[in-house]
Parts: sequence; structure tokens; C-alpha cells
Amino acid sequence: MSAHAVEATLDLEPFNDEVRPVVRFLRGPHLLGQTPFVSGRTLVEHAIEAGVEIPTNCTSGTCGACMVTLMLGEVPLPDPLPPGLDDFLVDEGARLGCIGLPDGDVDIDLRPPI
Ligand code: FES
Repeated sequence: MSAHAVEATLDLEPFNDEVRPVVRFLRGPHLLGQTPFVSGRTLVEHAIEAGVEIPTNCTSGTCGACMVTLMLGEVPLPDPLPPGLDDFLVDEGARLGCIGLPDGDVDIDLRPPI
């Protein structure tokens, strides 16, 4: 391969080391917004960055107003579960946006599982 061919390839596919995990917000199959993952930021905070609103009330894991459904990825659960969640809801994918801390790439459906 000539030096000229290498340059042409680099022009078409620039080196990019900025690939970061993404938090995506959907309603069913419709993508509403997405934002880069930031460690320590809640789902609600990521949603604000993405221009998406998750309703909130208590902002402490108690009321369940911010309940969403985890479709893909990891949002670890506190132990014990907060009052706004129970085992049945968790089994259906429920997470609380106000206290849920994503761990890398996640897809979140804004609709609660019930
Ligand atoms: S706003 Fe009440 S549980 Fe999240």
C-alpha cells in the first residue's frame, strides 16, 4: 500500500478514542434522547442532559414517581430496596430514575413496567 493510500484511508476513518458509553431514553421503540454516560450521575440527571423529562416527586426513592424500565445494561439496585421498589417490580425491570446510577451503556424505557 502506498503512502498516498494510507492517507486516504485515514481521511475516511479518523482515529477516535472518544467512544464512551451512552445512556439512551426510549418510549417503546422511539428514541427520545441520549447522552454520554457519566459515572455517579443518576438516570434523571442523564435524562436532563439528554433533553428528556422523567417525572419526579420525592427524589429519594420513596414515591415511585420516577419509575422507568431498564431494557439493556446495568443499573445496580440498593440493598435493601427503597420503598419505591419491590421484588416484583424489579423482576419486571423497574428502576427509579432519581436514585438509579447507570453503570455504562443503558437503554431506559420511560414507561414503568406496570
Ligand atoms: S422521585 Fe420519588 S422515587 Fe424517585
